[in-house]
Amino acid sequence: MSEGIFLPKLERGTLLPPSERVARLKDALPQILAAVAGERDEIALEATLACLLWETLAQANWCGFYRRVAEDELAVGPYQGGMGCLRISFDRGVCGACARTQTLQLVPDVHAFPGHISCDDATRSELVLPVFDRAGWLIAVLDLDCASLDGFCREEAELLQALLYKVFEGSGGGTGS
Ligand code: SME
Repeated sequence: MSEGIFLPKLERGTLLPPSERVARLKDALPQILAAVAGERDEIALEATLACLLWETLAQANWCGFYRRVAEDELAVGPYQGGMGCLRISFDRGVCGACARTQTLQLVPDVHAFPGHISCDDATRSELVLPVFDRAGWLIAVLDLDCASLDGFCREEAELLQALLYKVFEGSGGGTGS
């Protein structure tokens, strides 16, 4: 039974310098893996990651999953933040681009991304990562939005992609090793 994770409290919207964000994420990752250790249910995993990543990524104004519900359509899943769009087809927005290409999308300025879906006018940058199951099938995307420009860096993206791999494709949680 987990009681959440232990990290210094930060006000929502705080954008630390990249090196401090990476250090905070590295502190959180083993704790997140321990929290979900042994769990296999997709919704339970998504809900818990949305909660704990929201706590970790203080710069985010939205943090959650869009689940693949058809060949080329996503529907909103567990999240934290203001109300998101309910459905996103693969040909729309940053989430759609991530699902279509099955590669992470690091968007430092959403206004420079053609077709970005504006659920919240405050959003200025985004990171969207693909989530695969153990068979390598795309099951969801993790959508992270930020009200600051350049809210996510490449190293955060890579650490989060590795977390998603461990949780949904690999052997699950545990010690984080
Ligand atoms: N920003 C996303 C849409 C989802 S919401 O903002 C929560 C996109 O362009 O894919």
